[in-house]
Amino acid sequence: MIVAVDVALKPRNRLFAALDLPQDLRDELAGRAVEVAAALGGRAVPAANLHLTLAFLGQVPVERGAAVLEALQESLLPSPPPLRVRLGPLTPRPSRGRARLLAAGLAEPSGELEALGLRVQRALAGLGFAVEVRERFWPHVTVVRFPRPLAVGSPVWPEDERQFDVSRATLYDSLLSSGGPPRYEALWRAELAIPQAITQSA
Ligand code: 2AM
Repeated sequence: MIVAVDVALKPRNRLFAALDLPQDLRDELAGRAVEVAAALGGRAVPAANLHLTLAFLGQVPVERGAAVLEALQESLLPSPPPLRVRLGPLTPRPSRGRARLLAAGLAEPSGELEALGLRVQRALAGLGFAVEVRERFWPHVTVVRFPRPLAVGSPVWPEDERQFDVSRATLYDSLLSSGGPPRYEALWRAELAIPQAITQSA
């Protein structure tokens, strides 16, 4: 059953919706990211911040929190079962010559993950939120960021057959801090297959 909920937004919020990754995978990716970042001169994303972005909303007026949740809940239906995802190679974006970040691509053979990403983006954009909707959804986890564009060679990243399950979607507020990485505050969560609110901010 879907529970109608509201969410208390801070006036200066930076919202995004993401799928959460298992803790052991985040720890492993963060460890690898530290090595790659040290070799290239980038900033490794800490384990606590690693996620699979579904949609970035940016600043949302406080009175529109309920609309965000409505769109998220709707787009999680029909809710896929927990998704079996395979970790892919590390890719520089937007290009190898002028990389701003390195992200591990993710593959999910059934297409459920791509469909979910597009549903979330379209639902939010349909309600007037400034969400970028691409023709294709590229599931990825950003692991290293560069303060300025950098030409990167081939970063060492063993492509493995590592598989893991993704089973939780979260609406986050990204709280920026000067110098350090942002802190992501969870405002609302839904388990895939049973979308309902389990977390609300105070
Ligand atoms: P990324 O993983 O593709 O870099 C929280 O900031 C998340 O929102 C980031 O992980 C980032 O996804 C995504 N995002 C998309 N557009 C953004 C923007 N303009 N500013 C900040 N984050 C953005």
